Amino acid sequence: MSDTKPTFGHVPVMLADTLEYLVPPKPDCLMIDGTLGLAGHSSAFLSRYPGLRLIGVDADTEVQAIARARLEPYGVRVRFENRYFDDFFIEYAAQVQAGTAERPGLVLFDFGVSMFHFRESGRGFSLQGDEALDMRLSPNAPRTAADLVNELDERELFRIISTYGEEPFAYKISQAIARERRAARIDSTARLADIIKGTVPSKVRYGRIHPATRTFQALRIAVNDELGRIERGLAAAVECLAEGGIVGCISFHSLEDRIVKLLFRSKAVKRERAYFKEEQEAPIPLGEAERGLVVLTKRPVEPADDEVAANPASRSAKFRVAKAVGGGQ
Ligand SMILES: C[S@@+](CC[C@H](N)C(=O)[O-])C[C@H]1O[C@@H](n2cnc3c(N)ncnc32)[C@H](O)[C@@H]1O
Repeated sequence: MSDTKPTFGHVPVMLADTLEYLVPPKPDCLMIDGTLGLAGHSSAFLSRYPGLRLIGVDADTEVQAIARARLEPYGVRVRFENRYFDDFFIEYAAQVQAGTAERPGLVLFDFGVSMFHFRESGRGFSLQGDEALDMRLSPNAPRTAADLVNELDERELFRIISTYGEEPFAYKISQAIARERRAARIDSTARLADIIKGTVPSKVRYGRIHPATRTFQALRIAVNDELGRIERGLAAAVECLAEGGIVGCISFHSLEDRIVKLLFRSKAVKRERAYFKEEQEAPIPLGEAERGLVVLTKRPVEPADDEVAANPASRSAKFRVAKAVGGGQ
């Protein structure tokens, strides 16, 4: 079976690019997939590299159950962690420091949610049908989308919708939500979508994309603290990597990509600097210097036109990759 073919009706985004850039530094190394999802990427790596072992992290229990079934043929090569990836990597980094956990040679993130969430979860991610306004990946998230919509201060709602949704009508939408919730609590996706539809100009109301799409995206990001988790999780993951280990991040939102770009930039070193600490004459061995990154993608890699045509969900993807130098074996 080709390892780039989709199964379970799920098409992993930029799979060929991830396989091209994330080459295991050692044949039997450990890979951590921070966003296992339906294991599209992970199964391709496990099938291509028979010595590879994997830890698959996902906050969503239902999604992870599907991944477990899919990865069953790989047996003890795979371990599952049903947690948010920032919590996982922060704890894992402490174990690595203490010498009780193995440094991964590969780390992959494919941020956001999957088609499963929109089509099958019934948890309020979708604008089709009518579902409870939840949007939590894990029941451990403290607040649902309905909690935010009904309880947040109007100005905070505006900030979330305009920043995370990049919604030009955020002001009108947050005003309408604040007005309508006084009449009755907003608990369903259909009611929220109707409120938004009734607020935006008619040109937008009947446009190409549903007028509530950006607000729904914004609420999902806020409910799951997606950006904060990327910031904390990626920083900890970089510290965990083995010398020569590679981290790849696929982002779908400009704010996600910005976090990756800035973190990579803040750790970026030229290859030689890893061998000579500044102002020191004697070279210090690689591995003892501070953790740095050699950025392998000067600009983010984007999906090819034929991938976007075959899988429109990939159209906003941006892929950045960096290699770890210094900071421990
Ligand atoms: C885009 S999907 C990944 C798809 C996967 N690469 C594949 O090929 O099947 C993102 C997955 O990451 C999970 N996720 C998103 N944010 C997370 C976080 N902060 N911690 C753990 N899992 C997260 C979601 O539940 C979802 O299953």
